Amino acid sequence: MKGKILVTGGTGYIGSHTVVELQNAGFEVVIVDDLSNSTEVVVDQIEQITGIRPEFHRFNLQNLELLEKLFEHSKVIDAVIHFAAFKAVGESVAKPLQYYRNNLLSLINLFDCMERFQVKNLVFSSSCTVYGQPDQLPVTEQTPRQTAESPYGNTKIVCEDIIRDNTRANPEIHTIALRYFNPIGAHPSALIGELPNGVPNNLVPFVTQTAAGIREQLQVFGDDYNTPDGSCIRDYINVVDLAKAHVISIERLLNQQNEGPFEFFNVGTGNGVSVLGLLHAFERATGQKVNYKIVGRRAGDIEQIYADTTKANKVLGWKSDVSLEDTLLSAWNWEKKIRGMS
Ligand code: UFG
Repeated sequence: MKGKILVTGGTGYIGSHTVVELQNAGFEVVIVDDLSNSTEVVVDQIEQITGIRPEFHRFNLQNLELLEKLFEHSKVIDAVIHFAAFKAVGESVAKPLQYYRNNLLSLINLFDCMERFQVKNLVFSSSCTVYGQPDQLPVTEQTPRQTAESPYGNTKIVCEDIIRDNTRANPEIHTIALRYFNPIGAHPSALIGELPNGVPNNLVPFVTQTAAGIREQLQVFGDDYNTPDGSCIRDYINVVDLAKAHVISIERLLNQQNEGPFEFFNVGTGNGVSVLGLLHAFERATGQKVNYKIVGRRAGDIEQIYADTTKANKVLGWKSDVSLEDTLLSAWNWEKKIRGMS
């Protein structure tokens, strides 16, 4: 065993894929998740993929007492990966206090326990949302952060600031923040994937649900942007590739290879793909036609953003591997699996 990793939000979309990759790499995993946006069945599915059942605890990280008990009982945690957070942009506008309370307090409680129980390594889920609409593309880690478009986005900015400040006060705790671009796709086994609650907000789950006949029509939000085909551009990163970036970050911290107590990395492919480009790639990869129509712009959308991944490539030795087509095919296979389609 290479070490014991506490994964908060470990039954969620990115969390579950990361648990699988950690176990594949020989780590022991303890999951804490309140199941507010996932189900315990994911623990069974992880076990089915890897043959190892991760330890699972159900509670919300706002509960400091339960978190302390977990740290006490789990001797010894070598590192934490912190995914657990609310992440729906629109909901965060309607319920800002819930977002600030949950996302900030969870990190604060974790740091409290890490300090008390001398756990010195953290990998934090951050987002390209911290860059807003950047003036220059692609964005590097030096690109200035901008005022967030939503309370959700602001929780990522404030959490990065909490990490920076806490690192100054407690430099023995080392953190790597990974700034994800747009994670998509599912595990090739189709045993785990994204399980959106209700009508999906994100593009790919909406595309796969439309192809599966659950949604009648995809709305493409705007074709009058200043981009080659007029639709918005994003950097869509395969979720298993993203999960592997976490394993590499954990190994970097445990081997004390990090340069300084707080590092951050862009995690994307480096390729900008338009909404219409993604739709066509999906149709090519799966042979499924997607019924769509162009509608007006969605409020708050960024015109285009994609990563400069040089730092992650050179410093972490990580790069995205799975093609967009294979990733979209994995998303489609997952959709078919959960809908009982052959
Ligand atoms: N889109 C559509 N139709 C849909 C859904 C999305 O055209 O039904 C378009 C959006 O307008 C956007 C692109 O598809 O141009 C991607 O949209 P997503 O909602 O999938 O992703 P976003 O880039 O808007 O959001 C992501 C994360 C958020 C994060 C945000 C920061 O999901 O958590 O990046 O930019 F806050």
